[in-house]
Amino acid sequence: MTRIFSGVKPTGHLTLGNYLGAVRRWAEVDQHRAEALFCIVDLHALTVDHDPGRVRRLSRQAATLLLASGLDPEQCTVFVQSHVDEHARLSYLLECVATDGEMRRMIQYKEKAALERKRGGSVRLSLLTYPVLMAADILAYGTDEVPVGDDQTQHVELTRDLAVRFNQRYGHTFVVPRATRPEVAARVMNLQEPTSKMGKSDDVGPGVVYLLDEPETVRKKIMRAVTDSGQDVEYDPEERPGVSNLLEILAACQGSDPATLSGAYTSYGALKKDTADAVVELLGPVQDRHKQLCADPSYVEGVLRDGARRAREMARPTVDSAYEAIGLLAPSAG
Ligand code: TRP
Repeated sequence: MTRIFSGVKPTGHLTLGNYLGAVRRWAEVDQHRAEALFCIVDLHALTVDHDPGRVRRLSRQAATLLLASGLDPEQCTVFVQSHVDEHARLSYLLECVATDGEMRRMIQYKEKAALERKRGGSVRLSLLTYPVLMAADILAYGTDEVPVGDDQTQHVELTRDLAVRFNQRYGHTFVVPRATRPEVAARVMNLQEPTSKMGKSDDVGPGVVYLLDEPETVRKKIMRAVTDSGQDVEYDPEERPGVSNLLEILAACQGSDPATLSGAYTSYGALKKDTADAVVELLGPVQDRHKQLCADPSYVEGVLRDGARRAREMARPTVDSAYEAIGLLAPSAG
């Protein structure tokens, strides 16, 4: 059976962008068609300046929200990265396969390191080695498919390169994975800045709808979304990014097509109102389930404990064989 692995980094609250762009598809499609693992990648949250309490809270919240969004522990494995030692164990071996130049060429590293320096901060070494840890996340599980957004495809390419190189040098050990781009997932943009993604890490609240936003907040944010000059409601992401983003969101909520939808509107106001209604309706059940799960923290903890146990069992043999293949002496049993 196809194996799927994807990760959510607990660096911010989950957004409508995360939900429509990824999580909903994991719940509706991926967990049913494949053997899927969804990981709260908390170690990755430590690569930039972080607040320990916040990382812990966001990790728990992300797990709870994934379950509230419909990930079913009977259908897939939901777990926290730091609960499974194999990630860090394998990461070190892959650091011995990756090169310094390869790491420094990563676009996300260059961007984030530049930003960090501009702020006068220092760049953590883990920010540079982060893609190797991500490769370990993926390769430890014999993953076939990695559903990720565009910003992560370079990291998955690197993962492939490392897998091929390791296999060539030390014998076949890893499945070579590929990035998949879900066909129907919506690309949700920031409501105030519709040319950039609605990411969870950017702290510009007014343009980002969070999964746990109150209905009133959701409405306010959508009604205040920037639109484009002009009057027509047209789907044209290049020329009309603001309106197109609203169409995209509404279409994703309704399971329709943004270009077709545009024909039904003659004003921005009506489009915004319908989009706000649709998003409030979409998030309602997720928020209700989230509330129920929060009232029963031992359930979520149990899911994560079982998930980690299952993940460990899957990863262990692959990581052990990598240790052996690369030349490390196996500890003797007994
Ligand atoms: N780097 C990913 C991001 O920032 C998160 C991630 C970590 C991930 N490990 C992964 C995604 C493995 C897919 C597979 O979004």
